[in-house]
Parts: sequence; structure tokens; C-alpha cells
Amino acid sequence: MAREGRPFACLTAYDATTARWLERAGVHVLLVGDTAAEMILGFQRTIDMPLPIALALTAAVKRGAPDTLVMGDMPFMSYQADESEAIVNAGRFLTEGLADCVKIEADASFAPLIAKMARAGIPICGHVGSKPQRAALSGGYGSAGRTPKEAAQIVDDAVALEKAGCVLLLVEAVPPEVTDSIMKATTVPLIGIGAGTACHGQVLVFQDLCGLTDEPPRFAQRSADLGNQIQRAGEDWVRRVTERNIGGESYVMQQPQVATTVKPQPAPKT
Ligand code: KIV
Repeated sequence: MAREGRPFACLTAYDATTARWLERAGVHVLLVGDTAAEMILGFQRTIDMPLPIALALTAAVKRGAPDTLVMGDMPFMSYQADESEAIVNAGRFLTEGLADCVKIEADASFAPLIAKMARAGIPICGHVGSKPQRAALSGGYGSAGRTPKEAAQIVDDAVALEKAGCVLLLVEAVPPEVTDSIMKATTVPLIGIGAGTACHGQVLVFQDLCGLTDEPPRFAQRSADLGNQIQRAGEDWVRRVTERNIGGESYVMQQPQVATTVKPQPAPKT
């Protein structure tokens, strides 16, 4: 699609049921992001995402959407500490997690690791721009690349990651000018989130798109109001239970079996 200039749509998904509906909707890529730490597990930070749960959720999404490209997101400390461990963990996303590709938040210093992952046969998406796993160092979640120096650094990172073997790039929360520069400087498909419209593909967190988050980021425009719908469904259920009017169909007692007499058969003639 990127080659043909057709924008592709990517959304996060963290469970099989949602993935099934998003596949039916024609969403092209499902990202099992480490935002699951916040959206599914209730943490305040993406760095709290446990690797075994990330693997299990990724496999669940692929089972729900077997015909959609599924990207697993490597959690904090699953690839930063040790190269061999990082390669093994990335491989686990393909085997246990059933992922089609794996995303890591990276700058140019990760190029040697990405080259080794690519050599091992793992398709990697390099995530540049704002990198939430580094929020403790960068002063919190937010935008990136808003000074000429930072912008140039992000473009250099993207170029280095493509050279190292990334088959996809993702850029988060940068001004559109930075995206334009990455688009000019790289050739692999670029997915954007809060990065303007020029990218080959666009991703949003499912809960932000569907009106399930209380404070979505400034770039996330809602397409649905599921939060209020869920609340109304919950309220309706509380009312029906209170009124002993739960609806649906009851099970019916089985009728007693009618006894049948079996006539003795004459013995066959020999
Ligand atoms: O974890 C995630 O959901 C992401 C997106 C915000 C791009 O990395």
C-alpha cells in the first residue's frame, strides 16, 4: 500500500474479540502496544508492561485477527539490557506471540542490535520521535523534535534504523515538518501517531479512538463514544437485576422419558 501511495490504517488492540471486529472493519495493522500496561492493566506508565503478558496478548490478537498484520511491542527492559536476551525476546514475539513483526523504541545507538535481529530473521519496526519508555529521562510523556537540533536527531535516528534493517518505522508526537523530513530521508513505510498526515500509515490507541479514555492526547480525534455506551449498558443491567427482569430465555426442564415396551422378536430361522 505504501508503494502505491495508499495510506494504511493501524490501531492498537489487546484482545481477540476487539481484534476480530477490527479485522472485519478492514484495519490493516494491529499493534499490541505496551500501552496495554495503561489500557488493560491499569498502570500509569508503559514501562510497567510485563513481557509474558505482552506475549500472551499479542497471540490473542493474532488469534482474533488471523488475516491481519499484527505487530508486537517489546516492553521496557525486554531489549535494552542485553543483546542476546533482546534477540531471543524478539523471536518469542514471532513464535509464542504469533506476531508478524516486532516494534522497539530506538535511536541510532540501537542500530547494531537491530542489524542482529534482522539477521536472525525478525522483521523490526523502529519507533522514533517521542519514546514513552524513556519518559523518566525526557521529563515525561510528550512531544519530540520541536527544535531544529532535536528534529535533525530524529531524522538521523530514522535513517540509521532503516540502514540497520528496519522494515518499518513509526514516529510519535512530532511536528509534521519532522515527518516530512523522515519521509524524504527513508524508503520503508512510515507509520505516524500525532505526526501529521504525510506518513504512509496512521496509528491510534483504540481506546482513544473509541472514546474510552478520559484524557486522550491532543492529536486523537474520537470516532465513537463507547465509554458512555458501556456505562449505559452497565446501568441498564443494574436496573434489570434490581427489577428481577433480567431478560433472555430460561432453561426448560427436560420432560420425563415415556417408557416404551420392546416386543420380543422371533428368533431368526437358521
Ligand atoms: O504502545 C503503543 O501503543 C504505541 C503507540 C502509541 C504507537 O507504541
